[in-house]
Amino acid sequence: MPVVVEKLIAAKPFLKWAGGKGQLLAEIDRRLPAGLKTGEVDTYVEPFVGGGAVFFHIAQNYDKIKRFYLLDINEDLVNCYKAVKKDVGLLVRELLSLQDKFLAIQRPKRKDFYLNIRKRFNTEKVAHFNTKTAAKLIFLNKTCFNGLYRVNRKGEFNVPFGDYKSPRICAAKNLQIVSEILQIAKIICADFTHSETYIDNHTFVYLDPPYRPLSPTASFTSYSKEDFNPEDQIRLARFCRQIHSKGAKFLLSNSDPKNENPTDRFFQDHYKEFTIDTVKAARLINCKASGRGQINELLITNY
Ligand SMILES: C[S@@+](CC[C@H](N)C(=O)[O-])C[C@H]1O[C@@H](n2cnc3c(N)ncnc32)[C@H](O)[C@@H]1O
Repeated sequence: MPVVVEKLIAAKPFLKWAGGKGQLLAEIDRRLPAGLKTGEVDTYVEPFVGGGAVFFHIAQNYDKIKRFYLLDINEDLVNCYKAVKKDVGLLVRELLSLQDKFLAIQRPKRKDFYLNIRKRFNTEKVAHFNTKTAAKLIFLNKTCFNGLYRVNRKGEFNVPFGDYKSPRICAAKNLQIVSEILQIAKIICADFTHSETYIDNHTFVYLDPPYRPLSPTASFTSYSKEDFNPEDQIRLARFCRQIHSKGAKFLLSNSDPKNENPTDRFFQDHYKEFTIDTVKAARLINCKASGRGQINELLITNY
């Protein structure tokens, strides 16, 4: 129905997330397997969902897919997705209340409010992560420095205050539409290998793992207590060969290590039986100006 389609087109990620794929959507869409349109592919699996830009795109543009499985190892993120899915009414009310209180405070004093919510979020998430905790995470994501997610060794969210003039904290309409879309998705907190259970020869798997660090000092892959280390990258390459042998189609994105080290052959060696395309992307995640500008990203497919 046109009304539904119009509503669906608006949905976009409700969290800003490092590595968000919004700007690569056109390049990714161009490389999606034809089976997504014909119905030969009826299942979508995303083992590193993050902000979910590719999921939202596919869920709204490919109606032959009947099952969606979204996984991430970050418990806070997964709990937040579950709250949006199951309890969007209360979530929006909570977030609107946080937004009203925050914006009513004079700008120099907002930092105290932010730090107080951050402290309560960290206590609450250990005791019992509920819808109100999810509202706090969205609030923190919109008001912290650069929309980053980072935790200390104890697992406490520790990103400093962002001090933006008038951040959009509660996008109520988007949250409601996202919630509708999530009704067809199973959301799971687990290591990426767990997704194998859901994968068969009618599945498309989109993988966007934490990047191999661009430079030895780059530390933004610390999404959760478990860092994604070089062995994990090797484990992932093995996993891709495994799902390939099951007959699934996959597309994997990563930054090109040749951006920093032209002799690095990690992907050429570990993904040699697959197609490796290089595309340009704007890299804005690095807070140093020297880390900005255009860099190459890799899109690897097995079809
Ligand atoms: C680059 S981000 C994904 C970005 C996402 N494509 C987007 O558009 O926002 C990588 C995600 O992988 C998750 N992650 C890290 N290690 C993982 C693991 N072993 N298994 C599953 N997810 C993991 C992180 O929590 C993070 O959300």
